[in-house]
Amino acid sequence: METVIKVDNLTKNFRVRDKEPGFKGSLKGLFKREYKNIEAVKNVSFEIGRGELIGFIGPNGAGKTTTLKMLSGLLYPTEGTVEVLGYRPQDRSHDFLKSISLIMGQKNQLWWDLPAIEAFNLNREIYEIEEKSYKRILGELIDLLDVSDAVQHQVRRLSLGQRMKCELIASLLHTPDVLFLDEPTIGLDVVMQKKIREFILEYNKRHNATIILTSHYMDDVKEICDRVIMINEGSKVYDGDLDSMIKEYADYKILIPIFNDRVSRKELSKYGDVVSYDHPKAVINVSRRDASKIASEILNNYDIDDLDINEPRLEDIIRDAFENGIKTVV
Ligand SMILES: Nc1ncnc2c1ncn2[C@@H]1O[C@H](COP(=O)(O)OP(=O)(O)OP(=O)(O)O)[C@@H](O)[C@H]1O
Ligand SMILES: [Mg+2]
Repeated sequence: METVIKVDNLTKNFRVRDKEPGFKGSLKGLFKREYKNIEAVKNVSFEIGRGELIGFIGPNGAGKTTTLKMLSGLLYPTEGTVEVLGYRPQDRSHDFLKSISLIMGQKNQLWWDLPAIEAFNLNREIYEIEEKSYKRILGELIDLLDVSDAVQHQVRRLSLGQRMKCELIASLLHTPDVLFLDEPTIGLDVVMQKKIREFILEYNKRHNATIILTSHYMDDVKEICDRVIMINEGSKVYDGDLDSMIKEYADYKILIPIFNDRVSRKELSKYGDVVSYDHPKAVINVSRRDASKIASEILNNYDIDDLDINEPRLEDIIRDAFENGIKTVV
């Protein structure tokens, strides 16, 4: 596979004012400025091939947005190198900018008082898109996202979801090969989240686009991404496929027996961590390795109406991993 993104020991430090809290701190700060270093991204390396869909995940403040900003050339790395499609992003060359897009769910680039369609026309000029292909691509995007009416209205009047769709269109008119999507579904309802996900997948398929996506919604990651890169406190802690990540970080499975007879909670606790027992249904987290053994023991020992063995939810795995301290698996 052709390598499209190459990140080597990427590091970003921010120098920020270090003020003591309170009034006294402010007063002191007037005379003596103290600074501290924030290591937002530390020695991160990875390579991404053309057409890959990457989920870039990590807790708040992990360094995701900072990394995406370096990949799109908005921030200079403190150390290390980035190469995207053979360009050095920080040079911000015209050709580079025509091949990428950074879309941030929390920021908008559209003008509030104008209809979205006017922003699109302006982007056509900025990116020097030929009239004929502009019309075709715009038509295709409006169709896919189902916003033919919305694009005629002032942006301030649009719903959050319509606005996000218009943001996507504005960022994709020049058909970038590489997309950096920073929380593209944030704040949207589940139906709209799903539509945006389907659209991202479709765009990837049509244009063989390489996509890095950050999201706190695990459904986004589950449904879009083949591969996950996880960072924590600026460092990469995992890089691989989603299934292996689940096995690596979730050392348990969930057994859900439905009992015909009454069993004491204490008795059940010898099999694992009893999450709930509301007769006839129990939910027990058991060790992944012994899950099938424990399941057959329970089937043998009790009168069972039904028994399910489930994988933990991705959200729970990630939350536990973040809360309990993430081990590095790279
Ligand atoms: N311009 C800046 N100046 C100083 N510190 C910054 C700046 N931008 C980010 N940081 C700090 O760098 C760290 C990483 O921030 P970043 O925004 O990359 O995290 P994130 O993973 O995107 O988090 P979130 O999930 O909340 O969006 C944080 O500690 C943040 O406070
Ligand atoms: Mg962020």
